Amino acid sequence: MSIDRRTFLKGAGVGAGAGIIATVGVGAAVNAANAAPEASDSANLPAVPFYGLHQPGVLEAPQASGVFAVFNVTAKTTAELVDAFKKITTLSADMAAGEKLPTIQPKLPPVDNNVLGPEPVADGITMTWGVGESLFDGRFGLAGKKPAGLTTMPVFPNDNLEPGWTNGDVYLQVCAGQPDAAIRALRIIMRQCRGQLQLKYRIDGFMSQPRPDGAPRNLMGFKDGTANPDVANDPELANQLIWTGDETGQTWTAGGTFAVFRRIRMFVEFWDRVGIPEQEGLFGRQRDSGAPLTGTTEADLPEYGNDEGGVVTPLDSHIRLANPQTPEAIATRILRRGYNYDQGIDSNGNLDMGLIFVCFNRSTQKQFETIQNRLSEEGLVDYIQPTGGGYFFILPGVKDENDYYGSGLFG
Ligand code: HEM
Repeated sequence: MSIDRRTFLKGAGVGAGAGIIATVGVGAAVNAANAAPEASDSANLPAVPFYGLHQPGVLEAPQASGVFAVFNVTAKTTAELVDAFKKITTLSADMAAGEKLPTIQPKLPPVDNNVLGPEPVADGITMTWGVGESLFDGRFGLAGKKPAGLTTMPVFPNDNLEPGWTNGDVYLQVCAGQPDAAIRALRIIMRQCRGQLQLKYRIDGFMSQPRPDGAPRNLMGFKDGTANPDVANDPELANQLIWTGDETGQTWTAGGTFAVFRRIRMFVEFWDRVGIPEQEGLFGRQRDSGAPLTGTTEADLPEYGNDEGGVVTPLDSHIRLANPQTPEAIATRILRRGYNYDQGIDSNGNLDMGLIFVCFNRSTQKQFETIQNRLSEEGLVDYIQPTGGGYFFILPGVKDENDYYGSGLFG
């Protein structure tokens, strides 16, 4: 069933004047994108502006709940695919604004599943859409439009990728203050794009509140997100590290970014039997405060210059390998947006939980892959295992009410 775009657009114009999510900064190295998530007790975070050069859900402080879904395109023609992209645009805009979705025909099944009740709220929802390399195969005549640098995710050492849990045509990251807002959005999209987008895999994530302050904690008990670059407050740095220009060989990609999405299981039973000094050595940070082993507060920068042998911060610790603090490493940082996940238990009775690793960067090859390759030598590999995910190109933002996701791709 196709939706009347004009009906959906009646509630548009959400960008101007809509409130921006406030940020919680606790120090120089803790910034908008990595501070603890927005308090979700109100269950009604303000609307995040939707229209613009870039999509929301990248630079903003992460909301407490996330749903990460990857679809395969089942649309048969390019026209059907364009129709799907137009629908997801109007739906995403209306949900971002907290608008009531239109009733198409009172006797037909409703567009809204009512999970948020009859008076839906924005709850700070951001829906961030990306495309995988497989969308650029022969099906939709898009082969010539593929951004350079968008590849299938390679298998890294220590990966144990499940085929049903890897790659895919379209990526959707829904973040909101509460899980019900994110789930509602996913279901509305799936319902309206039935026959065009088929879910391939999905995972839900959550963030801790400040425990007791600073970046949220991961399920290994460490603050995670501390050393993110301050791209939310520094547009020049964001252009340098995050937003793509014309280096992709495509003009339509300006204002987008490359996302890496990986499900990384943590062997938490094993981890919970490791002493604190060893845990701290594996990360290179103190467990309680989040301070680097060379410092006293979370915001302190790690110092490796006078510790060449790795006596204080082990050479194979996570942060030292991830960012050795050389000029090259600093110039090629990534923006991480990780969420905790909990998927119950495996067939052996072990807990199945870990990290939904999401990062954004301007060049996956120069940034993420360089870091990931250094990390293949880290001590932490015995306690974690990547099991799925993919590489995606996050589309440029929807500029105004007449624009739609991927318009440059199809134009
Ligand atoms: C389960 C897997 C992982 C866990 C538990 C984990 C945890 C952490 C923790 C606790 C920190 C220190 C606090 C912070 O600055 O955020 C950190 C930093 C960092 N991690 Fe990870 N991480 C994981 C995977 C990855 C992956 C796959 C990458 C990229 C390939 C990565 C890149 C980084 C970077 C760049 C930093 C900041 C280093 C710095 O600038 O000092 N992490 N991570």
